[in-house]
Amino acid sequence: MQDLPIASPKSKSVPIQMVGDTKNLSAEQKAWAKANGFQGQSGQILLCSDSKGALTSVLFGKSEQPMDAGKLASSLPAGNYHIEGELDDPHLTSLGWMLGAYRFTQYNNKKDQGAKLVLPKGVDAEDLVREAEASFLARDLINTPANDMGPDQLEKCIRTIGRKFKAQVSVIKGDALLKKNFPMIHAVGRASVDAPRLIDLKWGNAKHPKVTLVGKGVIFDSGGLNIKPGNSMALMKKDMGGAANTIALAQMIMDAKLPVRLRLLVPAVENAISANAFRPGDILPSRKGLSVEIGNTDAEGRLILGDALALGDEEKPDLMIDMATLTGAARVALGPDLPPFYTDDDELADAISHTSMDINDPLWRMPLWDPYQKMLSSKIADVNHISTGGFAGSITAGLFLSRFVEHAKSWAHFDIYGWTPTAKPWMPVGGEAQGIRTLFEVIKNKYWK
Ligand code: BES
Ligand code: MN
Ligand code: ZN
Repeated sequence: MQDLPIASPKSKSVPIQMVGDTKNLSAEQKAWAKANGFQGQSGQILLCSDSKGALTSVLFGKSEQPMDAGKLASSLPAGNYHIEGELDDPHLTSLGWMLGAYRFTQYNNKKDQGAKLVLPKGVDAEDLVREAEASFLARDLINTPANDMGPDQLEKCIRTIGRKFKAQVSVIKGDALLKKNFPMIHAVGRASVDAPRLIDLKWGNAKHPKVTLVGKGVIFDSGGLNIKPGNSMALMKKDMGGAANTIALAQMIMDAKLPVRLRLLVPAVENAISANAFRPGDILPSRKGLSVEIGNTDAEGRLILGDALALGDEEKPDLMIDMATLTGAARVALGPDLPPFYTDDDELADAISHTSMDINDPLWRMPLWDPYQKMLSSKIADVNHISTGGFAGSITAGLFLSRFVEHAKSWAHFDIYGWTPTAKPWMPVGGEAQGIRTLFEVIKNKYWK
């Protein structure tokens, strides 16, 4: 992982002035601003130098969105900088800088920009680093192509993090999935040369409230026998985005030593095509005991999550959260930057909604609309795993998952995209962390009494 662009507080640094206009600038700066057409428009950057050509200050057009500071990280020349004056939100400003500096360089050795920030007063460096490192981890995992991020590597990643925080990690792999009763994880993953598996991490004091995270770990989604067309398959290395995000969230929880008994479940599979692939029309048994009619092998995520959720549910967790790049329909409804979440727990939903808006980690509640359960009825099995008619695709996927959750005190499902298709100042194009800063805050506030 790339180092965070934080400069030591003692380092010599160039001042950045956040301005909305040019009124309060020095006479030289005013003239220079005029010559450059700089009027303090939001996000505009102007470098100022002395008569010898040395960089003396930076002007930055103030923005309503503190995280727009990410543009500075990706635009300024290498060096150390500090921001002058009072900031409305020093934390989000700094976080924007950190996240805007992210580059995925594993395959080309291109360096990041190298513009480092002396953290402004009032910023808790530990909190900032925890958030930024979690986002970088999720992005790295998603950006790494499937040929280097298979079930094996996902397992290694979880084992490495587990070791760091003294967690217990166990894995059920290949045919053992059948013996231990995870038939749907096995069915989805068995056509790949890399064995499907369920990775199970446990951490913390057994007496603390049980928080269980479940992440969809489809390392590549070809669609299976219902093969995706080329353009729909192109980005499918990101189909482990749910796993990446829950891994990153687990890291945050363990790093902050939140008083919870954490469990992370990642079903890791490749939805591949081979003679032994599962088929449309198959009826699968499931851990929960329901027989499941397969309508389309491209709706694989909900199957592996069904078995993993059923396991998580068995120990009656206080809170169970799953994250998954589950449906194209979620994107049709809300676009790539606003993942829907589903829960029947109104108090939890309110906490998530408010927190997400406060910290610019957007999430939007959608309903587990019970009357649509009908759309999942099957004539020959207990449940069909896709809806007839193709309406309400994200909702019906959530409703399917709800069939596997019975005992958890509270459950929330996040249908994330895990990818930034159009860059923002704090979001370069590529894998993206979504919802985990919010969930960390919500879990912290719920259990840290
Ligand atoms: N991983 C995809 C969903 C997806 C596609 C997420 C593109 C983000 C971007 C999932 O496995 C899938 O293929 N879902 C199907 C379900 C359908 C067959 C009922 C979909 O959404 O089209
Ligand atoms: Mn699919
Ligand atoms: Zn998928």
